[in-house]
Amino acid sequence: MTLVNRVFGITALLNERKKKGLFRECQICARVPGPDGGHGHGSRELRTASGTFLNFASNDYLGLTDHPEILEALREGIAEYGAGTGSSPLVTGLTPAHEELSERLRDITGKEAVLLFSTGFAANQALIKAFMALKAGICLDRLAHASMQDLAFYSRNLFRFRHNDTDHLERHLIAGNSPGIIVTEGVFSMDGDLAPLKRLQELREKFRTPLILDDAHGFGVHGPRGHGTPALVCGSFENTDIYMGTLSKAVGLSGAFIAGEREFLSFMTNTSREYIYSTMAPAFLARGALKSLNIIEGSEGEERRGHLATLIRRFRANMAELLPEYCPESETAIQPVIIGNTENLARVAAELRREGIIAGAIRPPTVPEGTARLRITLTAAHREQDTDFLAEKLSGIVRMIRNKTSANTENTA
Ligand SMILES: Cc1ncc(COP(=O)(O)O)c(C=O)c1O
Repeated sequence: MTLVNRVFGITALLNERKKKGLFRECQICARVPGPDGGHGHGSRELRTASGTFLNFASNDYLGLTDHPEILEALREGIAEYGAGTGSSPLVTGLTPAHEELSERLRDITGKEAVLLFSTGFAANQALIKAFMALKAGICLDRLAHASMQDLAFYSRNLFRFRHNDTDHLERHLIAGNSPGIIVTEGVFSMDGDLAPLKRLQELREKFRTPLILDDAHGFGVHGPRGHGTPALVCGSFENTDIYMGTLSKAVGLSGAFIAGEREFLSFMTNTSREYIYSTMAPAFLARGALKSLNIIEGSEGEERRGHLATLIRRFRANMAELLPEYCPESETAIQPVIIGNTENLARVAAELRREGIIAGAIRPPTVPEGTARLRITLTAAHREQDTDFLAEKLSGIVRMIRNKTSANTENTA
């Protein structure tokens, strides 16, 4: 046994997780070229050591991860800037490509300033830390992403309101717990539902409490020209004070940005350790992101969003007929199917794999106990027959497992 394991008892900890069905490990997934062998097929399929699967587990909502024009922009970016930036943004890590991308994101959001980050996770951590440094009371939706929950837990002034429950939040604000911030997600990553943005903006106004929005799953997908959930729900970003968007999901690349007030972002530039002490993301990624934004904002983006909307409607209609009691309301590309316990979830996921389908199997603590689920993500790279196939196989498998479970319960009663 190696030293770390011996000293800290890692094997026992892992065995405990295995016993509870909570053990996690990565699988290696290769891209599958399209029928013509070329690019432009997004993440529709993937290949692992055990075969080729229809992929319903990717956040590549618009199917842009291997778009030929984006790949070409990345190549041009490498030719122009080389591979890495070699330094933090405050040293020599920022290039004209980063600046152009920031300007573009400023235009899209209508905000005064933008900061780029290597990941959405780092951006959120930096954001929450900055407000903690400002001694803000943090009002956080209970189902907001781990990147925000993790740090907020260290705050002495944290209020986690019930998911999307604005009355719960308002009661807290009425009790005079300002100055604070309201933090939520545009599209909830595990449930696919939207934040009640209009109502949150009313509370923002009434209690002068800035609204911070993580729109990782809305940017590029929602609203006119893919500008995001505030554009969809409110027509603009005006009453969303700080907006975090990722470049890793619909944009098809990697990285993130925070858009907001110039002074606040200057404060972050001066104090955020995630920004100051981390090498800037490569300039070629900024070139790729600019190309991706061209596509997202243009007619091709419109078409891709239109196709995705058709798939969502079709999948939901199928599921409403085949398996209504398992599918909560979600009109977005994230379609949860709540299985309940982790053992049954593992069975459903394994049976789906046998049918050539991969979907995210999400277990506690990522989601609340008793709500283990398949997190199905639809993307513009899918075809109608893919989602029909998924609905048919999924409903058959869930029913089969339900019948077996109730037969076992009867036998043991
Ligand atoms: C809501 C939300 N915010 C932030 C992140 C982190 O973004 P990234 O994957 O770019 O680190 C995720 C990742 O899945 C997410 O779902």
